[in-house]
This record gives sequence, structure tokens and C-alpha cells, in this order.
Amino acid sequence: MKTKILMVCLGNICRSPLAEGILASKLPSEHFFVDSAGTGDYHIGKIPDHRSVAIAKLNGIDITYQTARQFTPKDFEEFDYIYAMDYSNYQDIVKLAPNPEATQKVKLILNELFEDENVDVPDPYYGIENGFPKVYEMLNQVCDEIADKLKKKHL
Ligand code: 4NP
Repeated sequence: MKTKILMVCLGNICRSPLAEGILASKLPSEHFFVDSAGTGDYHIGKIPDHRSVAIAKLNGIDITYQTARQFTPKDFEEFDYIYAMDYSNYQDIVKLAPNPEATQKVKLILNELFEDENVDVPDPYYGIENGFPKVYEMLNQVCDEIADKLKKKHL
């Protein structure tokens, strides 16, 4: 059975689609399944933001196959690891957890690099300067760490 990883942000059009594409590119697909979702319902069914598509493409990753969906409590059953992009996403996900085991699956993604520091991946949607390349770099670094850990543990 594949190990399943879910990336979660607010809209599922900027950060988590990038995180999904980047992590999937670092893991063998015969052993791992990577998906993404949003805590909000604003963009259900949409393809990723054109700025995420562009920065992914610049780095050789195609994320245009993705469509936004909303996180549901069923995801706690489906996925082994759930990574929240920011602390607000983390709180929104954990609120839906049916039991402590489900809560334990949820991690703030940058805590994989900066343990217990609760650093957010900043929301680039409203356009901080260079937001998308910065987000890409952060996610690329942390996904290297996550991919190493997952391969050591599950392969
Ligand atoms: P994301 O960015 O959570 O990284 O996908 C956002 C996308 C849309 C909105 C907020 C954040 N929005 O408010 O529509």
C-alpha cells in the first residue's frame, strides 16, 4: 500500500498545489501518493493560480493537472501525513480531527525544518513582492527534508 501525504492551505490554489507538485517530484510514485486540499471552499474545482503554475514550470514541475478541493474529515482516514502551510490552516484542520490519532497526523510543514518554531509559509495570494519564488524556495527545501525522512521510513 502507498504512503499518502496531503498538503493543505487555505484556497488550494497557491501554496498547497506547489507543495504537492514539489514533493511528488521527489518521491517514487509507485510507493507514495501526494495530494492537496484547502480548508476554504472559495476555489473548489479551479486549477492552481497562474503564478504558482509559472514558478513550478520554471523549475520543471507541471501542476496544471491539479484542481482545488476542500479538506474533509474523511482525509484523516485516507492520509498518513497531513501538512498544513500555516498555523491558521493547522488550527482549522485539527478542529475537524475525530480523535487524537487523527490530530497527530497533522504537522505544520516548516516545523520539519525549524522544529517547534511554528513558522508559516506566507500566503502569497495578495501579492507580497517575490512571494511566489520565495514560497517555492521554502517548499523546495522542506520537501527535500520530508522526502528524505519518508524514504528512510517507508522504503
Ligand atoms: P492559498 O492562497 O491558501 O495558498 O491557496 C490563497 C488563495 C486564495 C485565497 C486566500 C489564500 N482567497 O482568499 O481567495
